[in-house]
Amino acid sequence: MQRTTIIAGNWKMNKTPGEAVELAGALKERLGTTTDPEIVVCPSFTALVPVAEVLADTAIRLGAQNMHPAPEGAYTGETSAGMLLAAGCRDVILGHSERRHGFGEDDAFVNAKTLAALEAGLRPIVCVGETLEEREKGATFDVVLGQVEGSLRDVPPERAASLVVAYEPVWAIGTGRTATPEQAQEVHAAIRGRIGEIFGEEVAGAMRILYGGSVKPENAAELLGQADIDGALVGGASLKADAFAAIADAAR
Ligand code: PGA
Repeated sequence: MQRTTIIAGNWKMNKTPGEAVELAGALKERLGTTTDPEIVVCPSFTALVPVAEVLADTAIRLGAQNMHPAPEGAYTGETSAGMLLAAGCRDVILGHSERRHGFGEDDAFVNAKTLAALEAGLRPIVCVGETLEEREKGATFDVVLGQVEGSLRDVPPERAASLVVAYEPVWAIGTGRTATPEQAQEVHAAIRGRIGEIFGEEVAGAMRILYGGSVKPENAAELLGQADIDGALVGGASLKADAFAAIADAAR
């Protein structure tokens, strides 16, 4: 089964609109016509609209880093799927560990967002991953597969292949400590197995499963070379056009 690799940049809480436009401009020059791998950038909310303008008429997809499941209403500080679409987004990162652990998001909430995003026509990039403590006590598979099940509950099987899962071991995010390609591959294979049990083999064969956690130009090719790793969700290294473009090159 051929799966087009995705290289997604999660800019997190970095860059003013002006700085984001500058980075987007540099990425447009290097990657503006790249369709394989698929390139996605996820700036902060205040930068979405100006970055969408820079990336219009390029192959680079725009994504947000979070959203609220409700379509509108009294949710101070939140942003809906419809607002993201209108701002030019096609993708949205959901359930990032910094949201799960820093803001108390549980699987049920991530699931509500996933269903709302799909319903609105956004592509969810649903993040899962174990903490160091969970890995050390041998709970990695239980935790990760539990998050997959809980976050994707009630997704209609005919829509499931369009969503993306990102495996991001919490201990590897922003720490410089990457999972070895073998450690990542075994979890990716287990996730694909569980997706097959829930949605069927065809969906499992088509779904892109990204790895995230200290991906950089130096380790990207080896990670992306694993059978069940279909791309990368890149934090720190996505903030520099050269590094992000080098990771995209490693995917070719
Ligand atoms: P990192 O972040 O590449 O800086 O480790 C990855 C992520 O959190 O998506």
